[in-house]
Amino acid sequence: MPKTPDYFVGKSVIITGAASGIGKAAALIFAREGANVVCADLNENGAKKTADIVNAHAGKAFAVRTDVTSRAQVNEMVRRAIGTFGTIEFAFNSAGAALRRSKFLDIDDDLFDDTFALNVKGTFYCMQAILPHMLQNGRGVIVNMASMAHRRGGPGSSVHYAAAKGAVVAMTLGVAREFADAGIRCLSISPGPIRTPFQAAAATSPELMQRFLEDVPMKRFGEPEEIGELVLFMCSDACNFMTADTVYVNGGGGWR
Ligand SMILES: NC(=O)c1ccc[n+]([C@@H]2O[C@H](COP(=O)([O-])OP(=O)(O)OC[C@H]3O[C@@H](n4cnc5c(N)ncnc54)[C@H](O)[C@@H]3O)[C@@H](O)[C@H]2O)c1
Repeated sequence: MPKTPDYFVGKSVIITGAASGIGKAAALIFAREGANVVCADLNENGAKKTADIVNAHAGKAFAVRTDVTSRAQVNEMVRRAIGTFGTIEFAFNSAGAALRRSKFLDIDDDLFDDTFALNVKGTFYCMQAILPHMLQNGRGVIVNMASMAHRRGGPGSSVHYAAAKGAVVAMTLGVAREFADAGIRCLSISPGPIRTPFQAAAATSPELMQRFLEDVPMKRFGEPEEIGELVLFMCSDACNFMTADTVYVNGGGGWR
């Protein structure tokens, strides 16, 4: 929660991946606080549904179909966001996926490249698009979505994904430190397994799902709202001295 009541009222956030899961949960949490939300996603219908719910709250929202692997589409989305809301204070880059589970020796160039295009370049394009605006305003917070996978390495199923999320953690660190004295904070979140359509999208096997669950000392998956509330805290004035780090949210472990 913010230190100042109504801190988010009238402020604006861009959320990628806002059609589903963690991005959608974060959009509704920012809306609860009275923020304006740009709901960007490849899934235009899903993004519109999220925007409709936000518009039923105190904040305003609009949906924009955006493929974050396209620099041109990301630039256009950010241009529209600034044009509509005037100032963008926060960006939450949640769009991402493991795409497909694969043993290391079976990872082909397409899977590797697509995973990096979505998780790494997508995050890179979004940060490059919004940072000049934030620098001009002398303030801004960017939260990037990493994964605990980068600490585990994804053996047997997701080395390509773990490596991509490791790159997100490193990029976050670099951007945070490069702009730390310019009013910009940049953080990443490294969740354990969260109950969203993510695993279905990656066609995670029931056996792997069970192993993920057994690895969590709390013996449950996290809820998307449990990440969304952290995004809100990170963007708030209660979190002003925190930048560069990744925060693990994983029910107590899952390091096997
Ligand atoms: N769910 C988990 O267990 C988990 C764990 C760790 C990290 N994460 C990360 O959290 C983030 C959100 O995942 P989620 O669990 O909410 O999954 P999700 O599948 O519910 O949501 C992902 C969203 O990203 C969108 N998306 C996919 N490709 C896109 C593209 N090219 N351009 C724009 N949008 C695109 C999808 O349409 C979807 O709405 C991802 O970066 C994921 O890697 C998830």
